[in-house]
Amino acid sequence: MNERVVTDYHEITRVLADRSMRQALYDEGGVVMDSVLLTLHGPEHHKRRVLEFSILRKDYFAYYEAEIFPPALAQVLKTSITQGRMDLVEFGYRVTMNLTADFAGIDRPEKTADETERLLRLVKTFSEGATLVHSTRDKEEVRTEVRAGLEELRTSFLIPSIERRLKALEEGGDALPRDILTLLLREREKLGLSDEVILREMAFFLQAGSHSTANSMVHAMHEIFQRWPDLSARQNLREDPLYLQRCVHESFRLHPASPVAWRRPEGSCPVTGEGRVVLDFAAANRQRDLFGETADEFDPDRSRADGVPSWGLTFGYGMHMCLGRDLDGGVLPGPETDPANHQYGIVTQLVRALLDRDVRPDPERQAVRDMNTSRKNFSSYPVLLNHETEAKS
Ligand code: HEM
Repeated sequence: MNERVVTDYHEITRVLADRSMRQALYDEGGVVMDSVLLTLHGPEHHKRRVLEFSILRKDYFAYYEAEIFPPALAQVLKTSITQGRMDLVEFGYRVTMNLTADFAGIDRPEKTADETERLLRLVKTFSEGATLVHSTRDKEEVRTEVRAGLEELRTSFLIPSIERRLKALEEGGDALPRDILTLLLREREKLGLSDEVILREMAFFLQAGSHSTANSMVHAMHEIFQRWPDLSARQNLREDPLYLQRCVHESFRLHPASPVAWRRPEGSCPVTGEGRVVLDFAAANRQRDLFGETADEFDPDRSRADGVPSWGLTFGYGMHMCLGRDLDGGVLPGPETDPANHQYGIVTQLVRALLDRDVRPDPERQAVRDMNTSRKNFSSYPVLLNHETEAKS
């Protein structure tokens, strides 16, 4: 099979803008990824993307970041820091699970830690199913687990969430939930969506944002600890949230949550993957002619080539470019930006909330790299924090 690996930034953007190239990374993971937004192609993809984009827009992200996210974050922090210590990885997953469930439209009626844990376990199963191509386990066994997970999602979460939305749609008025599920239910006939497609779209959405957001936050925290080992230097950092946002974007560049994307020519066989192109985002994000000789280092002050975003290709490019980019990354500040009401993005807000509590690596428990993945994520990152009452405003 002839597979081509592309590491050059501009060549990658050309492939991603080429409408004859379709998604290929999830061909093996059809059990959970078949006909979801990320794997659709051509007009079908365009129609669903336009529809879902109507929810995933900057103005709503700004509202979500300012109004909905802070109390949800405070709730998770409250339970996490009662002992003055926690694991950043666990914390990240717990917070972002709620975030993606809100956007997908999966209700959590109990609002308990147990319920979040259940969803997290399901999302882990779905991710394993989506990236089946990389799995070293028996693939049929993984598929069976994914099918069972989808059934659990359907009966425990999706059916009650659908019932509430159908009732709201029937009653009309302004009280419609603003999420992907409500949209899909409203447009299901027009788009010809089956129950199975809606179920898989929910499973996809739950995982689309949670791993990437959680891991990106942990990497950003780690880079900040390395660069400013002293607590007092980090206290200065929290006084300058616009600079903190730059730190987060620089960390996005160094640690893309999806280090590669795959494409294959339209009409080619998904099994043989004939003509497949592997797009190496992680390599392109460290390209020296774009990001300088120190491209491998964490440097929020670096200059870069014109037209290249500070996060490089971390959010992708072209028709499948990430719809959660502005939610997690915020918007770029301009000369008129008022730091008091700027949209920083969820990852910067998470880092900020932790710095406000004097977060610091736990000297007694080492962070652990996840050896089961080539993505160099952390599987555990113990930290110490001040108690809620000591937090700065
Ligand atoms: C730091 C966090 C995130 C990173 C690094 C990230 C990265 C990416 C990348 C690279 C793609 C394109 C993959 C490809 O072209 O094959 C993508 C697509 C997507 N992302 Fe994200 N993502 C993040 C957070 C989120 C969040 C929070 C959401 C939802 C709330 C989200 C929703 C999506 C969706 C819906 C797509 C598919 C778009 C399409 O196919 O048209 N992402 N993401």
